[in-house]
Amino acid sequence: MAILVTGGAGFIGSHTCVELQQAGYDVVVYDNLSNASEKSLERVEAITGKPVKFYKGDILDRDRLNEVFEKEQLDSCIHFAGLKAVGESVAKPWEYYENNIAGTLTLVDVMRQHGCKNIIFSSSATVYGDPAEIPITENCPKGQCTNPYGWTKSMLEQILSDMQKADPEWNVVLLRYFNPIGAHPSGTMGENPNGIPNNLMPYITQVAVGKLPELGVFGDDYDTPDGTGVRDYIHVVDLAKGHVKALKKIEENAGLKIYNLGTGVGYSVLDIVKNFEAANGIKIPYSIKPRRAGDIATCYSDATKAKEELGWTAEYGIKEMCADSWRWQKNNPNGYDM
Ligand code: NAD
Ligand code: UFG
Repeated sequence: MAILVTGGAGFIGSHTCVELQQAGYDVVVYDNLSNASEKSLERVEAITGKPVKFYKGDILDRDRLNEVFEKEQLDSCIHFAGLKAVGESVAKPWEYYENNIAGTLTLVDVMRQHGCKNIIFSSSATVYGDPAEIPITENCPKGQCTNPYGWTKSMLEQILSDMQKADPEWNVVLLRYFNPIGAHPSGTMGENPNGIPNNLMPYITQVAVGKLPELGVFGDDYDTPDGTGVRDYIHVVDLAKGHVKALKKIEENAGLKIYNLGTGVGYSVLDIVKNFEAANGIKIPYSIKPRRAGDIATCYSDATKAKEELGWTAEYGIKEMCADSWRWQKNNPNGYDM
């Protein structure tokens, strides 16, 4: 039996493949490579010494999915495949709803037709909107998302929950990620954004490597200790390990479960700059810019539920996150494009 990993060539998916293989699982990756390189899977194989079975395909392509389910013995799916650029989703809402929602509906329909009713879904802290409480527990009500990307996550959570309610044979684990950064400590795998990065850490590493002149800090007048936005940054390897723990939960026939995956610690933008400088001995020039539309002041998790029910806690601290992000960028200035 193997685990289907949709979007497994991407940033979080590829790191999760490493952890799955190291925990003894066989993985089958399904990815259309719209935002990834197949080279990430070669790096997975180099780290684990095990082959990764790869099918190039789209989650909207029912025939291709059927073919994979007919060829492989799949008992669970970890579903990472999706478009994730917040700004792009505002400009291209139809494309985001089509890819993320219609794609997931097709995937789960093919899954159930083949008797595979176990899914772990990549959700996001974005479903809390401007959170009603800090730190955020899973009991915090979902909020108003500020962009179509966020709505796809919120709607897919609802869709998968409703399906599980209607058919209790389904096991559905919704994992709400906070802010994944870092890279594999080997320096051979990491985030590979297209064009100018939207997210903080890849922007900082591209400033550090000399590709971008300076960091723009989006607002210093938030109601936070230093005025800049506070987030819960989590090392991608810790996040990947959370999926292995969630699989164990699925194996216990968990029904529907929802977990925050975060560290429970908030860092401001300037904290991240300072920690990156200290960890790597590199100065990051920055200037204060206006607030970015849709941003909130503070977002960090209470990760107690994942600890108690999954036996999972984030182990890496901010130093390792900064050092590993930089090691990857420095060794691979052009990502997987060499
Ligand atoms: P990523 O872009 O690196 O990975 C997503 C992968 O899905 C890519 O490899 C892409 O090629 C593939 N893909 C996209 N559409 C597809 C389709 N129609 N068919 C097949 N493959 C398709 O992103 P990531 O950061 O690894 O994120 C993985 C998941 O986690 C996504 O669902 C994302 O929305 C979610 N998430 C990410 C973050 C974050 O900050 N990185 C935060 C919360 C949630
Ligand atoms: N920031 C800057 N300058 C930049 C980029 C970001 O100051 O160039 C600031 C932002 O204003 C924010 C913080 O850095 O205060 C983090 O921003 P990111 O863009 O890295 O992350 P977000 O918290 O905005 O969103 C991320 C993902 C979303 C996901 C969310 C919660 O992009 O998809 O985390 O998981 F939903």
